[in-house]
Amino acid sequence: MRSLLFVPADSPKKLDKAMTSGADALIIDLEDSIAHDAKAHAREVAAAFLKSVAGMPSRPQLIVRVNGLQTGLTDADLDAIVGAKPDAIMLPKAEGGASIVHTDAKLAVREALNDLPDGSIKILAIATETAAALFLAGSYAGASARMSALTWGAEDLSAEFGAEANRDAQGRVLDPYRLARTLCLAGAAAAEVAAIDTVFVDFRDGEGLRRECEEARRDGFAGKMAIHPAQVPVINELFTPTADATAQAQAIVDAFAASPGVGVVSINGVMIDRPHLVRAKRLLARAAARN
Ligand code: COA
Ligand code: MG
Repeated sequence: MRSLLFVPADSPKKLDKAMTSGADALIIDLEDSIAHDAKAHAREVAAAFLKSVAGMPSRPQLIVRVNGLQTGLTDADLDAIVGAKPDAIMLPKAEGGASIVHTDAKLAVREALNDLPDGSIKILAIATETAAALFLAGSYAGASARMSALTWGAEDLSAEFGAEANRDAQGRVLDPYRLARTLCLAGAAAAEVAAIDTVFVDFRDGEGLRRECEEARRDGFAGKMAIHPAQVPVINELFTPTADATAQAQAIVDAFAASPGVGVVSINGVMIDRPHLVRAKRLLARAAARN
């Protein structure tokens, strides 16, 4: 998944618009963009929407962001939406593998009650929204076969830190949150799931978004969350492997295939060894997923 577009669950108009945005996934939000008193209504709108679009051909992945385990609202969220068969849920304020095990159990019970195959609903976790979560970023491996991605966020974390800002005047992420970003990458790699970059909230700043996508792709993120449809084409473009990158990766795979049992080869005067091969195969898999 390259682009994951947030849509407040209580807005049928935005939900419809999001379907034609070109996003690989929609994140239907029951959490921060929904006021406390509007949660019950938002759950109903979300479930009705999921049911209405479930059978559409070539639709985006449908992910519901539920409220965190600390809120006491997660059970009611899941009661309302599991029967409508979302592809995945997003767990905010996750605190390590234990919170995934906990969420896995909640999903398993509701899948059984709704006659859905066990494990069919995946989990994406936001792994850096509390201070405690940072120390648990390495604990996701093996927590649940449902885990499909980790992402990170700076808003709740900066509130918890008592910080004045999480970006500088040029919109660049400040040091404490760069650590959170790196822990997300490391936690995802250790758990062998995709890392997804956080949102860029200044949705009129196309250049800023482009720069952040380039940095994220360079560092190993597979995609990025969006808050506005205008961000989707930029994210899709920058997270789709270019023809050049694909050709280069294919050349590396071919060079190793031509010399079985060899650990290092040279291509155009540059040393290429096993880590390059791993990276090349991963890029080709990503390119193939787009075809
Ligand atoms: N999904 C689908 N449609 C969206 C959208 C989104 N995330 N954000 C904006 N749109 C629609 C608007 O409804 C509007 O539609 P229209 O032309 O038919 O009236 C159009 O895109 C242009 O929107 P614009 O006027 O530029 O922005 P806005 O002021 O209406 O909305 C936000 C700005 C931030 C409120 C809106 O982008 C939004 O709700 N984003 C998601 C917020 C969220 O989920 N946050 C939680 C995660 S951080
Ligand atoms: Mg939040």
